[in-house]
Amino acid sequence: MSVNYSEYLKLEELLVLQSPKSEPEEHDEMLFIVIHQVYELWFKQILHELDKVKRDFSANDLYGAIATFKRVRTILKTLVGQLDILETMTPMSFSAFRDRLDTASGFQSTQFREFEFLLGYKRAEVMRFLEDSWPGTPRVKRRLAEPSVVDHFYIFLEQRGATIPQRVKDKPVEDPTWPDDDVQALLLSMYRDAPEISILFELMIDVDEGMQEWRYRHVKMVERTIGSKHGTGGSPGVEFLKKTLFQPIFPDLWLIRHAM
Ligand code: HEM
Repeated sequence: MSVNYSEYLKLEELLVLQSPKSEPEEHDEMLFIVIHQVYELWFKQILHELDKVKRDFSANDLYGAIATFKRVRTILKTLVGQLDILETMTPMSFSAFRDRLDTASGFQSTQFREFEFLLGYKRAEVMRFLEDSWPGTPRVKRRLAEPSVVDHFYIFLEQRGATIPQRVKDKPVEDPTWPDDDVQALLLSMYRDAPEISILFELMIDVDEGMQEWRYRHVKMVERTIGSKHGTGGSPGVEFLKKTLFQPIFPDLWLIRHAM
């Protein structure tokens, strides 16, 4: 029996998953729900891609990793661009249904935390905001306890002749990526001597910058929408989010730019 478009994509199931809670219905609540669901779908795809990058690195597959970082970079640009759509919602319109969110907040996005941890941006302290009963929490815990993209990147670099210091390889897996002078020195020499690998490094910088760009655009959107109000997730809101700005995912790739 042939499968049609709607069956293949499970559209009937998908299209009943948007249920605004405001009464009378606030027009913009549908946009708010759709955009968050779209973000979560893209997070799912990014996790799928970055899991592949880990396999590419372990298999010494430079071109596979390049192709996938290119895709992740492009998805991130879409994630940043989509904030423009949400910014067409006025603060008044958001206020009209904000209380319906109760304590719900992007703060509780377990896929976003998986994304951060998978990249090596590990912040064990955010675990206290996730409840054990949520279906996504075990997945975040697993990501915290498993090697990140950066750990696999070191494996890749070693296959390309680099010597990664033992202290870097012995770093506790739950810790964030540590900047390291010796790693920086070897990245710099590869930038000079291995142009094909420098293409990968630049794509990693693109992804890092894309993530930082998302954080910046999100905080400005939050500021124009709720000003100095507290977040529904219980944080001080904008002031909290500002502290997450300009934090690199691949610090060693940033710390060598002055020497180029
Ligand atoms: C009107 C729209 C939005 C407002 C007012 C808003 C507000 C906030 C606030 C105040 C926080 C800090 C935590 C808290 O206390 O709640 C936060 C965190 C967060 N939001 Fe949003 N947000 C909006 C849209 C979005 C969208 C569309 C996404 C996409 C998934 C998103 C994802 C996140 C994430 C991942 C965090 C955690 C950031 C971190 O811990 O570094 N938000 N948001």
